[in-house]
Amino acid sequence: MMTEALERISDQALVAGATGFTGREVVRVLVEKGVPTIAHLRPDSTRLKEWTERFQKMGAEVDNTAWELTAMTGTFARLRPAYIFSLLGTTRARVKQVARSGKDPKTQDYGAVDYGLAALLINAAKAAGIKPVFVYLSAAGTNAKSGSPYYQARWKLEQELIKSGLFYVIARPSFIIGPDRDEKRAGEIYGARTLDLLLALAGIFGLKKMNGRYRSTSNTILAQALVRLALDPNCANKIFESEELRNSD
Ligand SMILES: NC(=O)c1ccc[n+]([C@@H]2O[C@H](COP(=O)([O-])OP(=O)(O)OC[C@H]3O[C@@H](n4cnc5c(N)ncnc54)[C@H](OP(=O)(O)O)[C@@H]3O)[C@@H](O)[C@H]2O)c1
Repeated sequence: MMTEALERISDQALVAGATGFTGREVVRVLVEKGVPTIAHLRPDSTRLKEWTERFQKMGAEVDNTAWELTAMTGTFARLRPAYIFSLLGTTRARVKQVARSGKDPKTQDYGAVDYGLAALLINAAKAAGIKPVFVYLSAAGTNAKSGSPYYQARWKLEQELIKSGLFYVIARPSFIIGPDRDEKRAGEIYGARTLDLLLALAGIFGLKKMNGRYRSTSNTILAQALVRLALDPNCANKIFESEELRNSD
C-alpha cells in the first residue's frame, strides 16, 4: 500500500536542515544512492552562496523556500517529494546569540525551531495533499515525562507526526560527533566522550543494552541509517532508538 502511495508522488527527497552536521551527510548519501535530492536552504542564510555551490557540486538541487506555511505548501505541491527529512535543531548558544543581538530569543528556541519548523513541514505536506515518508531526527531519551524544553519539543513533534497520517520514521540518536562540525561544541564532545567511557564500563559489567542505547555515533553512520530507513517501506511508521541507528547499515 505504501509503495502505491509513493508511486503517485515522485522519487525525490527534500532535506530540511541540509546545512547541519547530519543534514549535509544525508544529502551526500542520498545523491550517492541515486535519489534526486533537493537541499533546502533558508533564504536568509548567511552562507547561502557557499552552501548552494557545495550542494550543487554534490549533485543536489537547492531550494530556498521561506519558512512560511503557504510558501512551503506551494513548494511541496510543486515538487511532491516522496521523502522529507526534518533534521533541524537549535542550540542554547544560538538562543543566547539571538538575545545578545537584541532580537526575541523565543524565535530561535527549541519550541520555535526543533518543534515549530518541523511542524510547519508536516502541515505543509498535509496541505499540499502529499503523503511522503517524513523522517524526523529526534533524540535519545525523548519521553512524555521529561521536564526539559529540549525533550518536550521532540515529544510533542513525535506525537503530532504519528497522528499526522504521513508515513513516518522517527530516529532517536544519542550524541552525534565527528571531526567536521562547523563550530566547536566542547560541552557536547566532552559529554559524548565521558558517556562513551561510562557506557563501555557498563558494558564490561554486563549492561550491554545500556551501552548500545546511549553510545555516541557519527554524522556519516547516522545519515546512512536515516536514508536506508526512509527508502525501506518495511521501516515506515516506526521509532528507531540509538542502537538501531548505529547497526542498521
Ligand atoms: N548534536 C547531537 O549530538 C544530537 C544528538 C541527538 C539529537 N540531535 C538532534 O538532531 C538534530 C540535528 O542535529 P545536528 O547536530 O545535525 O544539527 P546542526 O548541525 O546544529 O544543524 C542544525 C540545522 O538546523 C538549521 N536551523 C537552525 N535554526 C534554524 C532556523 N531558525 N531557521 C532555519 N533553519 C534553522 C540549521 O540551518 P543554518 O545552517 O541555516 O543555521 C542547520 O541546517 C537536532 O534536532 C538535534 O537536537 C543532535
